[in-house]
Amino acid sequence: MRLAIWWSVFLLPALMLAMALAVRLAPERWPWLHPLTKPQRAAAGAVLGRALWQHALAWATLGALVMSAVRLAGSGTQRLLSYGMIFLEVIGLGTVLLQAERAAGASAPAPAEAAERACAKVNLLLRVGAKRPDGYHELVSVMQTVGVYDELTVRAHTGGGVELQCDEVSLPADETNLCYKAAVTFFARTGIENDGVSIALHKVLPMQAGLGGGSADAAAVLRCLRRLYAPELPDGELEAMAAELGSDVPFCVRGGTALARGRGEELTALPALPACWFVLVKPAAAFSTGRMYGLIDSLGLCDGSGAGAMPAALERGDLAAVCAAMENTFEKTLPPEGETFALRRRLTELGALGAMLSGSGSAVFGVFRREEEARMACAALRGDYPAVFCGPSRN
Ligand code: C5P
Repeated sequence: MRLAIWWSVFLLPALMLAMALAVRLAPERWPWLHPLTKPQRAAAGAVLGRALWQHALAWATLGALVMSAVRLAGSGTQRLLSYGMIFLEVIGLGTVLLQAERAAGASAPAPAEAAERACAKVNLLLRVGAKRPDGYHELVSVMQTVGVYDELTVRAHTGGGVELQCDEVSLPADETNLCYKAAVTFFARTGIENDGVSIALHKVLPMQAGLGGGSADAAAVLRCLRRLYAPELPDGELEAMAAELGSDVPFCVRGGTALARGRGEELTALPALPACWFVLVKPAAAFSTGRMYGLIDSLGLCDGSGAGAMPAALERGDLAAVCAAMENTFEKTLPPEGETFALRRRLTELGALGAMLSGSGSAVFGVFRREEEARMACAALRGDYPAVFCGPSRN
């Protein structure tokens, strides 16, 4: 029975050997207490694989040496020495795990941050055509970015999942939010490992206004993620991802002045709109996009597929001609005595060259040649409507 207690000294070295083997055979599945990126796992795995072998052999050899030296000693001394050895082995194993943790920490990418403005869009021209078999409508639209925006910041490498914070309480900050979906789509489409992103959204643009606020936010998330994870990703690929998120998102990724066809995702660059100012007014009423398309169908109001006089007006840089060519099929669904047309008239009286419903509404925009005129109109309307904004055209 002599030295029976001593065999327990070899238990931990045996465990270390088994762990070293497990790390070597399946480094990716090695359990860790918190999520690690691939490079972090590789760094920790390399340290574990090496140090566990070394420790296992060193402790087993030391155990055997001390065992032969104490084989004639009393069982009390053997027990004491074996407990001492096991204590030292536990400390040894702890040091190895700590080394691996440090290696993982050292190879962690530095936290990085990117910020983007999510600008509103208006449709200077919006002709809604026939309904397609997929339920969408064929569109011809001239889209324009306006310098009124939500602010969005994305922090990368935060250690797991997608986190979203938004200062607009009525907007759900969960996986139904388009920003969240944009992040998930980005990682799924690029195949890049999601090592955690945190999105902070400061909301300014009103919802259900036809100003593309949600689409602009999603586009800003995609642009931020490209900057942080894949700067080499071509514009075309980012726009293809954007199209999965919504019909307006590809334009919001690109910005400027563009002709949109298909369901809104087929974009062609147009000459930039001559520099001007926009006043955006959101009445209390909110219009659901799906419902507005439904109204066009039920009233049989589909428009043709040409872009009319607007591209030529843009080519000439003739702002007045652009405004004269403005039209929007959705306006035909609204009563002439209603709020939309009253607002259009108000904007024209305040000096707008042109005023029209934005997208599927309910916001109405006015185009002004000069900043001062736009600011004065903005000030005049502010008391009468819940949300009134003023911003320059953006190219
Ligand atoms: O593409 P998005 O999700 O922004 O579209 C919202 C809704 O607007 C769609 O579900 C569809 O009812 C309608 N829509 C459409 N034709 C388009 C774009 C949008 O009917 N070209």
